[in-house]
Amino acid sequence: MKAVDLIQHIPNLSTFKKYGRVNRVVGLMIESQGPESSIGDVCKIHINSSKNGYSVILAEVVGFKEEIVVLMPYTNIREISTGCLVEGTNRPLEVKVGPELIGKVLDSMGNPIDGTVLPKGLRTVGTEQDPPNPLTRPPIHERMEVGVKAIDGMLTVGKGQRVGIFAGSGVGKSTLLGMIARNTNADLNVIALIGERGREVREFIERDLGKEGLAKSIVVAATSDQPALMRIKGAFTATAIAEYFRDKGLNVMLMMDSVTRVAMAQREIGLAVGEPPATRGYTPSVFSILPKLLERTGTNEHGSITAFYTVLVDGDDMNEPIADTVRGILDGHIVLDRSLANKGQYPAINVLKSISRLMNHISEEKHIKAAERLRDLYFTYNKSEDLINIGAYKRGTSKEIDEAILYEPLITSFLKQGYMDKVSLVESVNELVTLSDGGV
Ligand SMILES: Nc1ncnc2c1ncn2[C@@H]1O[C@H](COP(=O)(O)OP(=O)(O)OP(=O)(O)O)[C@@H](O)[C@H]1O
Ligand SMILES: [Mg+2]
Repeated sequence: MKAVDLIQHIPNLSTFKKYGRVNRVVGLMIESQGPESSIGDVCKIHINSSKNGYSVILAEVVGFKEEIVVLMPYTNIREISTGCLVEGTNRPLEVKVGPELIGKVLDSMGNPIDGTVLPKGLRTVGTEQDPPNPLTRPPIHERMEVGVKAIDGMLTVGKGQRVGIFAGSGVGKSTLLGMIARNTNADLNVIALIGERGREVREFIERDLGKEGLAKSIVVAATSDQPALMRIKGAFTATAIAEYFRDKGLNVMLMMDSVTRVAMAQREIGLAVGEPPATRGYTPSVFSILPKLLERTGTNEHGSITAFYTVLVDGDDMNEPIADTVRGILDGHIVLDRSLANKGQYPAINVLKSISRLMNHISEEKHIKAAERLRDLYFTYNKSEDLINIGAYKRGTSKEIDEAILYEPLITSFLKQGYMDKVSLVESVNELVTLSDGGV
C-alpha cells in the first residue's frame, strides 16, 4: 500500500485498547462485562494464574446477553477466573498465507503443527470471506483430472466444480481423497481434516497422502478433541487458504473430510448459545453456515477451487438432514457403497447412484455417449442381478440382459483401481470409449 493510501486510514485507527472483565463461565462459554465488540471478533483473555503464571488465550465473540459479551475460547480452558482482563481486537480471525505453506501441516489458526515455523513476509487474510459474486463467476468449461478412472471416466469433474463424497464410516473416503490428492493435476491441494481422531490425521498424511502428495498440499487439521470453535475454524481457514491461491490465478483442489463434523461442531456451539434444536438436533445456524462455507469455493474471475467435501451418511441414509442440505448446494455427488467395499471393489464408488451435474457440459460427445451406454448396461445388470445369481434368468430371453451380462465384468474391472495406481484422464476416457465400442 502506498503512503498516501495509508494516511487516509489514520482517522479510523483506534488509539486505545478496549477491555472487559470475565464475570462468569458457563460450560463452554465465557461471559464478560465488555469490551465493546461485534460478533466474530477475536478477544484476548489475559490470565494470571498462581500456578502457571501469565498467559493469554484467544476467544471469539459468539453472542450478547443484554450488556454481557458471550465468548467462546479457541483452546481448552482450565485456569480462567472471574476478573480476568478481556482485550478486544476489533478484528475477526486472520491467518497467514503464502506459497511457503505448501508441504506444511497447520492447525485451525494457521500455525504449523509439524515442528516447522512460519516464514516471515506472509500475507494476512481473514478466515471469513463472502462467496464470489455469482455474476462474475465464469462458467465451468474445462475438465479437472483427478486420476481416478471411475471419476474421470464416468463422473467427470470440471475445474471449479464442487462435489460431495457420501459414505458410511470406513468405506474408503480418506483413501479416495488421498488418491485424488496424489493423482490430480491441480496446481495444489488444500486439505482440511476436521474432527478426525489424532491417529487418523497421522495415518492420512503418512499413508494416504504420502510424501509425494504432501509436497503439493497444505493440510489443515482440527482433531476431534479440540473445542468446537477450532473445528469450525479449520474449515474456514482451509477455505481462506484455497481462496488466496485462487486469487493468484491457480487451479486449487480443496478437500474437506468431513463436512458432517463441521456441522456437528456448529450444532455444539448453537446449542451452547441457546439456539433451539431443529431437525435431528441440528440448530438453525448449522443450515445457514453450510451454504456460506460451501459457496465460497468454485470459480472466480482469477482462478478456480475444485472442491471435494466428504459427508458421513450413517446407515446409508442419504436423506439425513446434513446429507440432504449439502447435496442441494453442490454440483454433484459421489456415493461410496459398503456392499461394493465388502466385495473388495475399490474405490467403492457406486456410479449408478452418483452424478456429476457438469459432466455433459465439459466432455466430448463420444465420451458422454460411451459413459451413458456403459451406465445403462451396468444398470440393466444390477436390476437383474438377483435373478441371474440364483440362475432364474435364461440366456436368450432378453437381448439387453444378455449384453449386460457380457459387459458386467468388463465394467467392474474398469471401475476398479489399485490404490497406488495413477491413470490419466485421457487414458481413462480412451479406455471407456474402447470398452463401449465393444473393444476390450
Ligand atoms: N482403494 C482401496 N483399496 C484397498 N483398500 C481400501 C481402499 N479404500 C479403502 N480401503 C480399505 O478400507 C479401510 C477404510 O478406508 P478409509 O480409512 O479410507 O475409510 P473412511 O471412509 O475414511 O473411514 P472413516 O469413516 O473411519 O474415516 C482401509 O483401511 C482399507 O483397508
Ligand atoms: Mg476417513
